[in-house]
Amino acid sequence: MNFAVLASGRGSNLQAIIEAIKAGKIKADLKVVVSDKKDAYALEHARQAGIPDVFISPKDFQDRESFDRAVVERLREFNIDFVVLAGYMRLLSGYFIGQYPNKILNIHPSLLPDFKGAHAIKDAFEHSVAVTGVTVHIVVEEMDAGPIIKQESLPIEPHDTLESLEEKIHKLEHRIYPEVIDLFARGHVEIGNGKAIDL
Ligand code: GRF
Repeated sequence: MNFAVLASGRGSNLQAIIEAIKAGKIKADLKVVVSDKKDAYALEHARQAGIPDVFISPKDFQDRESFDRAVVERLREFNIDFVVLAGYMRLLSGYFIGQYPNKILNIHPSLLPDFKGAHAIKDAFEHSVAVTGVTVHIVVEEMDAGPIIKQESLPIEPHDTLESLEEKIHKLEHRIYPEVIDLFARGHVEIGNGKAIDL
């Protein structure tokens, strides 16, 4: 199975994925990393690992769908079977999702459906919830929704700061995202009736 990673930022999840592939823990090929941000460090991680990196500028397109059409066109060159979002800060159009139905994964740093959006860790911290966590789910048109494949929780301790919580969340992400990608790539995740079943 071939996959692509789409990332907009520092790419620590991408790096965890690259390391898991090298260690034989993900039995699938990462063919290309695509970013909508020229200076995303994720692209640098890709270059260092010898993986093709592609930057596509949203400024060159009139709307979300025409941008997505350009991304999908590039992905086709790499014969991608599925897509992994790792800190990709754009909402995918219906067109994009329709090209890879039930074949796009995302990781979100909260226990969805709590704390959707771009500031999930801070929001959970500021709400002083006792437990938060990480969710890996299938991407649908609605943001941070879609069948949940895996969730893992972690407690927010009294001595935690936002920074210590972020660190714990990212550590958890870096462990569970490669695990789920490997299960998915090996056909161990089945989607039906809006639910993901881990076979
Ligand atoms: C992660 O916290 C992920 O859950 C969220 O965006 C962040 C990306 O971080 N979707 P990185 O770019 O992988 O370091």
